[in-house]
Amino acid sequence: MTQELAGKVTVITGAAAGIGKAAAELFASEGARLMLSDVNGEGVEAVAAALRAQGHEAQAMATDVTSEAQVGALVAATVGAYGRLDCAFNNAGIGHTPLSLLDVDAAMFERYLAVNLSGALWCMQHEIRVMLAQGGGTIVNTASLAGLAATPKMIPYTASKFGLIGITKSAASEFAGQGIRVNAVCPTSTDTEGMREFIATQGVAPDRMFGPMGRMGTAREIAEAALWLLSDRASFITGQTLVASGGSSGQTG
Ligand SMILES: NC(=O)c1ccc[n+]([C@@H]2O[C@H](COP(=O)([O-])OP(=O)(O)OC[C@H]3O[C@@H](n4cnc5c(N)ncnc54)[C@H](O)[C@@H]3O)[C@@H](O)[C@H]2O)c1
Repeated sequence: MTQELAGKVTVITGAAAGIGKAAAELFASEGARLMLSDVNGEGVEAVAAALRAQGHEAQAMATDVTSEAQVGALVAATVGAYGRLDCAFNNAGIGHTPLSLLDVDAAMFERYLAVNLSGALWCMQHEIRVMLAQGGGTIVNTASLAGLAATPKMIPYTASKFGLIGITKSAASEFAGQGIRVNAVCPTSTDTEGMREFIATQGVAPDRMFGPMGRMGTAREIAEAALWLLSDRASFITGQTLVASGGSSGQTG
């Protein structure tokens, strides 16, 4: 059977847990040569070690995407290890905590923008420099349905994800003529470590997070959408948002 990412050097951010970890496992099974990163250095090394034990190529590096210097070092380490960079899944992010617009403060707002928006910007900047030099590449950013639809009490998160979709489209249009595709995957409620923590700390019943399918998405289902966008099967698709929501059209994150 064809492997969708056979031999493709692929960076994933936020790969210690949730969607990023599921993507690491899926992309490895599809033949990718992986550089996994996360602010949780021990956690991401454990994911890489488990993949190596199964015979896959996976290295890990502690990286906080809010630091442009650390992101630059991650991309440089990837090129140092594998000689190139074909695909990037810029997925690191922090989820939302319900809060009225009236209660948003500057530090909180800036934190969401730093992780969810600037983080992906620094990733794209360093990744695209390498991709331009080698003649192409593909990028998927993890946004959210909350980056497309109105959701109450999610101002900082909503701002970060609307912004992320905007810079995804802008980057796609700037580099479409140079063999670089940039898209976004937009999940709704997905059963991840981050979602379980949200459910526990907010004391919400898990079924309140369910959409029309009567369940949350799995991390693997979101990773599958990202895989398709990264693969050559999506070769004419750029600047797009792929909503993976089980039929939801808004009101959830
Ligand atoms: N789970 C959902 O319901 C859902 C819905 C829509 C969008 N998303 C988005 O999907 C992405 C992944 O979410 P998840 O649910 O898998 O979360 P998660 O909390 O399970 O995993 C996120 C990972 O990102 C890492 N991370 C956080 N801040 C970081 C930073 N500054 N630098 C590097 N790594 C960092 C964490 O350590 C963690 O390992 C996020 O961008 C999130 O906004 C998730």
